[in-house]
Amino acid sequence: MKILGISGHYHDSAAALVVDGVPVAAVQEERLSRRKNDAAFPLGAIEWCLESAGLQPADLDAVVFYERSMLKFDRILTSALRSFPRSWRSFPHAIRNSLGEKVWIRGIISSHLGVPRDRILFTDHHASHAAAAFLTAPTRRAAILTADGVGEWATLTVGQGTRHDGGTGIRLDREIRFPHSLGMLYSTFTAYLGFEVNEGEYKVMGLAAYGRPTMMEQVGKLIRRTADGAFTLVPEYFEYQTTAERSYSSRFVDLFGPARDPYEPIDLESAEGRRFADCAASVQRVLEDVLVDITRRLQRETGLTDLCYGGGVALNGVANARILAESGFERLFVPSAPGDAGCALGAALYADRIYFRNPDRDVPDHPFWGPAVDAGELARAAREDSQVVDELDGPAMLERIVDELAGGGIVGWMEGACEFGPRALGHRSILAAPHAPEMRERLNRDIKYREEFRPFAPVAPSEACGRFFELPTGGARLGRFMSGVFPVRPEWRNRLAAVTHVDGSARVQVLERDMAPRLHALLEAYGRRTGIPVLLNTSFNVAGEPIVTRALEGYSTFRRCGIDMLVAGSTIVKKKRTASPSASMQERVASWA
Ligand SMILES: [Fe+2]
Repeated sequence: MKILGISGHYHDSAAALVVDGVPVAAVQEERLSRRKNDAAFPLGAIEWCLESAGLQPADLDAVVFYERSMLKFDRILTSALRSFPRSWRSFPHAIRNSLGEKVWIRGIISSHLGVPRDRILFTDHHASHAAAAFLTAPTRRAAILTADGVGEWATLTVGQGTRHDGGTGIRLDREIRFPHSLGMLYSTFTAYLGFEVNEGEYKVMGLAAYGRPTMMEQVGKLIRRTADGAFTLVPEYFEYQTTAERSYSSRFVDLFGPARDPYEPIDLESAEGRRFADCAASVQRVLEDVLVDITRRLQRETGLTDLCYGGGVALNGVANARILAESGFERLFVPSAPGDAGCALGAALYADRIYFRNPDRDVPDHPFWGPAVDAGELARAAREDSQVVDELDGPAMLERIVDELAGGGIVGWMEGACEFGPRALGHRSILAAPHAPEMRERLNRDIKYREEFRPFAPVAPSEACGRFFELPTGGARLGRFMSGVFPVRPEWRNRLAAVTHVDGSARVQVLERDMAPRLHALLEAYGRRTGIPVLLNTSFNVAGEPIVTRALEGYSTFRRCGIDMLVAGSTIVKKKRTASPSASMQERVASWA
């Protein structure tokens, strides 16, 4: 059976194809259209998924959209009417922006793909999140938690999933409904702190490490805990439920002070800068506390050892680590794409297992479902551009790349199929030595143009991770897709300064050999040279652009920024250096060996 899942029309459009119960292709529209967070109907992604599997739309047994658009329409209409007359101006805006053509989605899918209308199905938004988390995890029975901004009405659900030969069950028992939403609470602070919503939440988490949670009492005024373990938000402090203009109210500003001007850099030396950092730390702590309470209760109720967790809030690696440490669950599974893009895959899997009742299948435990890189394409482009191209393989190639990294060079690394989800997990990465803080500055200055307070992440082979990072039980699993933030062992913090955050933590990717063998081999080779098999791993893109997909995009990025060496398969392109690598860097690396 061939099932296409689609998410889109809000942000992060994507398509995923499931054939005979197993994913064969999944990609976000932005990776093909090259428009970051592309929300358009994912025609490019759909075409690529079908083409890569040699299918025509007519071959599809079903097309599944990741949410029920009429319910979302109902929510927007009801919210607007409830707050009448204040919201009357925002209603057409909300309909246009948040809903768009969504209510007509069946007609759109049918006309774009030529698929009969009766083959088009819909899943609940949070059922898609739940399926993306549970049906891709190597577990047969687990509690399920989903948390995001909002789907149709639900913003957080808890339930259980079971997989056995007789069939698959996903049961979401309870839900918290809009406007009460942990995702919206966090996004409100994202906006207040001057960052872009749905994009800047990482920045709030990064900034939180610089602050102290001194405003928890104030944040506590916004959210009320209920006796059944849930919460409600206090509407007077928010405006997102009534207008698209602003998410926080003037009472919110009375409580926390003036909002940050997005165009002013945050000066952490100033009282104002510290206030923003404390604000971030406070909302971060409250988010963690609520999630820990909810998951602790869920663990007690279900008595299960595994928790599968999806939705955009599951991108918060600091909160995830606390859930793992404090909820009582032994293993926490967060998929590589817990956000709405991942719902394309979740919706297709949900339809396969639950709607069509197809037999249970194990889903391969990796995130590499996108277009593959063509090393030949890189070689051709670089030669036409009069660059020096080398074709190497095996140990000689690894040694060449290690020479570059240990000498302070920055390497663009492309390998196989690209990742499904927002993080580079070893197939579209920028790699660099993780030791000196100057590397962080150089990456920010020459490539990423990011705020200082956003840390870079390390990747390390699973066998060696425990030497450098304090991984709790279950931590390696959470680190598989970079979903947890853990302490760097104090004795290594100086030597891993480029990847250690100000609070001594790191969002480490724990790399098993079978998931990305070539990167694993490179880490080992780097370890043999320097004594430290750890590299800085950041997504292969420059600010404002999606992660590169094809070799040509990698090459174009390489030519436009401070990357020194580009690798795809066995092809290596080396940029001519304007200055030699700093001797002090080489000496320092040598001295650690
Ligand atoms: Fe969502």
